[in-house]
Amino acid sequence: MATRTILVGGGTGFVGTRLNKLLKVSNCNVINVSRMPAANNISWTAVESSGLPPGTSAVVNLAGQQFLDFTKSWTTGFKQNVFNSRVYTTRALATAINTTQNKPKVFVLVTGVGAYEPSETKKYDESSPTTGQDFFSKLLVDWEKAATIDPPVRLVIIRSGVVIGREGGMIKNMFLPFYFGLGGPIASGKQFLPWIHIEDLIRLIQFSIECEEVKGILNGVAPHIVTNAEFTKTFAKALSRPAIFPVPEFILNLLLNEERAMLLTKGQHVTPKRTLEYGFKYKYPKIEDACRECAHLLPNN
Ligand SMILES: NC(=O)c1ccc[n+]([C@@H]2O[C@H](COP(=O)([O-])OP(=O)(O)OC[C@H]3O[C@@H](n4cnc5c(N)ncnc54)[C@H](OP(=O)(O)O)[C@@H]3O)[C@@H](O)[C@H]2O)c1
Repeated sequence: MATRTILVGGGTGFVGTRLNKLLKVSNCNVINVSRMPAANNISWTAVESSGLPPGTSAVVNLAGQQFLDFTKSWTTGFKQNVFNSRVYTTRALATAINTTQNKPKVFVLVTGVGAYEPSETKKYDESSPTTGQDFFSKLLVDWEKAATIDPPVRLVIIRSGVVIGREGGMIKNMFLPFYFGLGGPIASGKQFLPWIHIEDLIRLIQFSIECEEVKGILNGVAPHIVTNAEFTKTFAKALSRPAIFPVPEFILNLLLNEERAMLLTKGQHVTPKRTLEYGFKYKYPKIEDACRECAHLLPNN
């Protein structure tokens, strides 16, 4: 197969690093759009001024300031960063796609299940309305709107659950407390925790690039739906540790600000209806297997 060029916004992060590896072994030339100069990187300014690199056949956006960066207070300025790093980067890539002569085949944007209003009773699939009034539901609307592109370029929006992988995200943050037996459920533990193993998320991105019939919203979550308490128990078991120290909701509200803490204290019941209908096969459909895969002290290289 001829080498294809794939442009990845935010390709230097947790998900992007794994995606780069998968695409490179699939004979793709990957160019990352980054704030940092490096051999395979171009800048956001270059995308805005010169458009897509010649021959780009697919564009992916993974850029976004981490919501749960515990070193950063939830100030107006930080919230602006959270917004701009997603909405402006997505708009920059969409504009570059719309104005280029030789169009790529597909634009894949990874957003989140925060599109659906947190609830312990409602059930969501890709056809559910995004009616939430909280900061994250509103951000998701602007973020996905920024991806507006003209046909015939396909648009795929993957609404990802919490990404389970040893090298980053939630598992990296919670690994040491759990390893030392200090883990426990968050708040009541009854809130749903939509999740996907990192290997499945990068495979779903590749699937979206390669399958020409795939378009629209896909929920990037595993079919096995769990609550925070069930996830906690399973991860602790995979580490052969107890998980008896709950983290009270008011502590998280104090530490993180209530608006941001809801990412941990609230959840949504989300199913991957369209993802399964398209025939995507999960490597880690069950939480037990996903937890076992990341229950090792040293991160993968
Ligand atoms: N990890 C999860 O559990 C999860 C769950 C649902 C959705 N998502 C979404 O999936 C995407 C990828 O997640 P990830 O965990 O791989 O993210 P990540 O590692 O935290 O960050 C991805 C990249 O975003 C770029 N970035 C960070 N702050 C930025 C800013 N202020 N302006 C512009 N670019 C910035 C960085 O690239 P440079 O430093 O090279 O510029 C970084 O490598 C994100 O949009 C995230 O919201 C993630």
